[in-house]
Amino acid sequence: MSLLPDVDRILLGPGPSLTAPRVMRAMAAPTISHLDPLMMALLDDVRARLARTFRAAEGSFAFAVSGTGTSGMETTVANLVKDGTRATVIVTGYFGDRLAQMCERYGAVVTRLAVEWGRACDPDALRTQLAETPADVLAMVHAETSTGVVNPVRELAAIAREHGALTIVDAVTSLGGMPLEVGVWGIDAAYSCTQKCLGGPSGLAPVVFGPRALAQRVTCRSFYFDLSLLEDYWLRRKYHHTMSSTLVYALYEALSIIEEEGLDARWARHERNHRALLESLAGLGLSVLPREGERLWTLNAVRVPDGVDEAAVRVHLLETFNIEIGAGLGPLAGKIWRVGLMGASSSPRLIVLLRGALESALAKQGRQVPA
Ligand SMILES: Cc1ncc(COP(=O)(O)O)c(C=O)c1O
Repeated sequence: MSLLPDVDRILLGPGPSLTAPRVMRAMAAPTISHLDPLMMALLDDVRARLARTFRAAEGSFAFAVSGTGTSGMETTVANLVKDGTRATVIVTGYFGDRLAQMCERYGAVVTRLAVEWGRACDPDALRTQLAETPADVLAMVHAETSTGVVNPVRELAAIAREHGALTIVDAVTSLGGMPLEVGVWGIDAAYSCTQKCLGGPSGLAPVVFGPRALAQRVTCRSFYFDLSLLEDYWLRRKYHHTMSSTLVYALYEALSIIEEEGLDARWARHERNHRALLESLAGLGLSVLPREGERLWTLNAVRVPDGVDEAAVRVHLLETFNIEIGAGLGPLAGKIWRVGLMGASSSPRLIVLLRGALESALAKQGRQVPA
């Protein structure tokens, strides 16, 4: 008996999201080698599309690392942080903490600007922090998937620049789903993943280094994530590792879909569907954790009502309706469900489906929908 799934899971968790059907079809194209002339043409095209999707400044280098979002995180850190680098890391949740750990592993002296889970970083707190403890690098998460909170990256990056620090931004849950302007906001390096708002499978990590970051790179301790060796492959066609053509097809198609939809229109779709979800949840007596103005459109942290068995609801959704939503992490475990509306999963049809399924799950626990 095959263990492969024969049902399409409806992926409404923190990621992966649904893979767009066109992307699935693109992955069926014939395998080519990592040095094939066709592959080189694809890499050039993907580089240009990624630079546009990140809205990167002239002179930036946008490309994709073989690996998931964490490999993008590691690539930016490994090339901008060395022993003794002073790094301030804004920690608003689980992934901010991972970023701080990554900087520590590469030898940085890390100062954590810790913010209560469920809140965004206050720009004044950063101003005070950088005045007291100067930093060479500021690292932060744009869309904190563990809490559903968006950080005001534009303001935070401007403050970092005033203080002479390079900025590294985690855009794993924002690229393609929330406004992000790497060039205009003065972000020096950013990374993302393919399996959330881009609508692909996991396996590649889009990364961008701006001109300042390219000039201030450090000697990289990692072979696999060495920016100069990756430039040798992407720009000078020199073998570094056997990049998967199948995943490059997927990214190429996902980025083509984004450009056909239009980035601004795509952001607007994510916002519209987020608001529709909130309304739909309110009808069930449910609300989200972050306050207005700090909410992600891509990931909704839904409060579990008192007396409701949160795990039983997730199991009911999966077993009865084939719908996946996520559990809370760390201090929010048992307190929230994480509902992702990203990429192909950001759709009104799925919001209607989820509402019906949640109503059924809550009714099973004796909770009726408020009149
Ligand atoms: C904000 C954020 N950063 C980093 C990661 C790590 O990405 P991956 O699991 O693709 O390695 C995730 C994963 O969900 C994330 O949400």
